Amino acid sequence: MIEDPSIPRIVQLPRIQDPRGNLTFLEGGNHVPFDIARVYYLYDVPGGETRGGHAHRELEQVIIAVSGSFDVVLDNGDGHQERHFLNRSYYGLYVPRMHWRELENFSSGSVLLVLASEKYDEDDYYRDYSEFLSDVRGS
Ligand code: TYD
Repeated sequence: MIEDPSIPRIVQLPRIQDPRGNLTFLEGGNHVPFDIARVYYLYDVPGGETRGGHAHRELEQVIIAVSGSFDVVLDNGDGHQERHFLNRSYYGLYVPRMHWRELENFSSGSVLLVLASEKYDEDDYYRDYSEFLSDVRGS
């Protein structure tokens, strides 16, 4: 089945269970539906903290709770919002371009890993929600 690249979805990742410790891997173009251009991670986030608060013009990403838990609230600017509680290291959340995201309710010690389709480019960000809405509605 071809997945719609404009719709967020949970991606189940391979899980090699082992009494010595479990292992999960992912491959660009396979479990992640784009070539991975950049990896970054958030850590030392104080419990209960909020981050995010932006959207991307072109960038797509997969977000993984490698450790701990947090909520990802996605808003497509067209009246649809959804909240994903991530707390397993073998699930990824695919976030399409043009989705406003808020990251909320971090548990202390959590690590949020991001696989991104583009290198860092501040010009790709919407940091102003009303500008994002205006562009969604104008397109
Ligand atoms: P930002 O994307 O706003 O963080 P979050 O959405 O998690 O709250 O990035 C925070 C700062 O880090 C901002 O000044 C840009 C910088 N940054 C980079 O220089 N390179 C990167 O790859 C990322 C993700 C951020």
